[in-house]
Amino acid sequence: MGKPCTFTLYAGIALSLAACGGDEPSIESPVGPIPAYDQRAGDAEAGWQALINNGYVGCGVPRSAYNQVFSPAPTWARLDRGGTNASLPYNFTSFRTGSGVEVVSPNCLQCHAETLRGQLVIGLGSHTADYTDDISGLAVLAGGLITDPAERAEWEKWRDRVVAVAPYTITKTVGVNPADNLAAVLFAHRDAETLAWSNELLMELPPNIVVPVDVPPWWRMQKKNAMFYDGAGRGDHARIMMTASTLCVDTVDEARAIDAYFPDVRAYLLTLQPPAWPFAVDAALAATGKDVFDGTCARCHGTYGEVETYPNLIVGLDEVNTDPVLASGAAQFAEGAVRWFNRSFFGELSFLSPARGYVAPPLDGIWATAPFLHNGSVPTLAALLDSSTRPTYFTRSYDTNDYDEAAVGWRFTALPAGQDAEPDAGRKTRIYDTGQLGYGNGGHTFGDALTAEQRRAVIEYLKTL
Ligand code: HEC
Ligand code: HEC
Repeated sequence: MGKPCTFTLYAGIALSLAACGGDEPSIESPVGPIPAYDQRAGDAEAGWQALINNGYVGCGVPRSAYNQVFSPAPTWARLDRGGTNASLPYNFTSFRTGSGVEVVSPNCLQCHAETLRGQLVIGLGSHTADYTDDISGLAVLAGGLITDPAERAEWEKWRDRVVAVAPYTITKTVGVNPADNLAAVLFAHRDAETLAWSNELLMELPPNIVVPVDVPPWWRMQKKNAMFYDGAGRGDHARIMMTASTLCVDTVDEARAIDAYFPDVRAYLLTLQPPAWPFAVDAALAATGKDVFDGTCARCHGTYGEVETYPNLIVGLDEVNTDPVLASGAAQFAEGAVRWFNRSFFGELSFLSPARGYVAPPLDGIWATAPFLHNGSVPTLAALLDSSTRPTYFTRSYDTNDYDEAAVGWRFTALPAGQDAEPDAGRKTRIYDTGQLGYGNGGHTFGDALTAEQRRAVIEYLKTL
């Protein structure tokens, strides 16, 4: 029955002592402030090198097949990497597996880097990637390019994982991310004790809703006591970050070897600074905005400038009222997935404990992180702060030069509900339909009571954070 008593080591959350040796403890955290947890120290430079060079995903497409399909990356998309990684784009890493085969896999930057007005920003969440297609067919086809037996064995491993996760990770709209579902499916295919993979599902999956998530920027981790929108990621953050290895890392020994350098990766993440607002600011208006912000918003989002404070607050669904699906125990935050995590190798140092609410995030570099809310349902700050102007059915270009300086966010076109948008007429994947389950744009009406002038001032101030 695992080791439920370990959970009681962590103070500050509502876990029942009575659970030791009997039923497992409650997995839910209360809303309100999140306590701080001890973190392991690490070396930021070593962490950056590991992030872009190491094989923490554990498997991939044999390099020989990759080279037959993909050309070398354009210069802008390369990182300063030597050897075999030099010609790969930033979001792929080439490494040798235990069997000696060189493979290519996506790395963390697949989701955690994005271009912004022509420049690649490491740590900025991707909001243009397309997860609306089932790519497992391509994974299977790639096998036709491979003849060497050792390479075929590596390809088969990778193909099995892709085929297992594909049906549960398809989003309705380009730009939102299915990572929370991906985690749940990977947990469900593994034995919690040994991490051994099974092509069969070992536990029931959460209800089949692919919850859309907007990838948060890494620089927030300087202030956040818990990872994830619902504050579920508690304890040691480095151990939680390495769950990306659940795609292909199949033994506890391998996982432990990766965990040994993840405190370095976390140390690197904590060095990231948000990009500065690149346009003019009306300093007098921003000063007025600071007063409004400190009076209306700071109790949840903290204060900025000379004296920085951050309350690390989870706001209950009844108060924030944004789309409830994610915080109601979906995807990796569903009960089965949480219990799997807490019983597994990952639960040794960390634990998942979701709350029925959302963390009020730090707003540093907020201008760069549109679209807004945990599901990316609001394209601009102007729309976020005046809920009557939020589009309910809209499209955007997904061009990260197409920035609206006045509204602070992405230019968008509101459409009549149901209308198709080119170029994928009929599929509607470039339309954000806020009527879909998990895609709602309601709630967070804290800006509505402000006057138009006060809202303008707050937006001017937010540009400076
Ligand atoms: C497939 C996309 C994807 C990949 C790959 C990925 N992440 Fe994430 N990451 C996400 C999403 C989406 C979230 C937000 C989930 C949530 O809060 O519900 C997230 C959240 C996080 C957070 C918490 C941020 C916060 O503000 O709470 C950290 C830290 C993080 N990821 C680090 C990593 C690291 C390190 C790697 C590589 C080992 C990685 N991620 C790989 C998509 C991804
Ligand atoms: C009662 C607490 C509370 C107050 C007051 C509040 N917020 Fe928030 N805010 C939140 C929470 C919680 C979220 C996350 C909601 C979600 O993602 O569903 C959020 C999200 C946001 C976001 C989007 C962050 C992102 O990256 O998606 C912005 C911007 C923001 N708030 C600005 C403000 C401003 C400006 C004010 C004052 C006018 C304000 N908030 C008042 C709790 C609050």
